Amino acid sequence: MFLLPFPLDCCEGLNNVDYSQVDLSIMRLAADYVDLTDPRLGVAALCIALNPLFWNLVARWEHRSRSLTRVFGSPYVACYCLGAVIMLLNFLRSHCFMEAMKSQPRLKLLDSLVGYSIGVAFAAVGTVLMVSSFLALGFVGTFLGDYFGILMEVKVTCFPFNVSDNPMYWGSTIIYFGWSIMHASLAGVLLTAVVALCYMIALRYEGPFTEEIYRQKASKHL
Ligand SMILES: *[C@@H]1O[C@H](CO)[C@@H](O)[C@H](O)[C@H]1NC(C)=O
Repeated sequence: MFLLPFPLDCCEGLNNVDYSQVDLSIMRLAADYVDLTDPRLGVAALCIALNPLFWNLVARWEHRSRSLTRVFGSPYVACYCLGAVIMLLNFLRSHCFMEAMKSQPRLKLLDSLVGYSIGVAFAAVGTVLMVSSFLALGFVGTFLGDYFGILMEVKVTCFPFNVSDNPMYWGSTIIYFGWSIMHASLAGVLLTAVVALCYMIALRYEGPFTEEIYRQKASKHL
């Protein structure tokens, strides 16, 4: 009871709220700043969600069955091919994101050189995180090599892994946020939230799995 930040009786008022009014004002807000009826918004959201879903399903299937390794004759070639497909899907996602923003209303608040510069700064930070993470991990390390049985000798702890556990995902999210600010687009910010949400779900799913792969490797060496 002591933890409640407000007295309970303040909530009684909620029962008297006219929800039709609330709905109306949300719709008006949406119409001014985001056009939710534009199908390109849904296509972009779908593209964003399908990306991590695709690579997790394929990588787990490979880890279970070694099918890609068998088809391509080597785990390295298989991993390079999956990496290339993931990169293509990433381009597609970015393209859908941009297309969805183009037709959307622009926020007056951000539609200025200052707003644009802030967006560029975010995109630059995100790019530094992604590029440095790629350089630290290499192609195979970045594109799920551990699911192909190609494990890192030691955990990478150098920059950017000393500032974030998942610099690739957060770098990518920050870049999308930067693009949204550059385009003064609330729709872009909403799609960025979808990106962040999908990555958080993916991390919950990937984290324990890779830990288990490395735990098995460690126990084999004992
Ligand atoms: C991370 O590492 C970089 C270079 O190796 C260093 O400049 C930076 O201060 C480190 N950051 C933290 C938070 O430790």
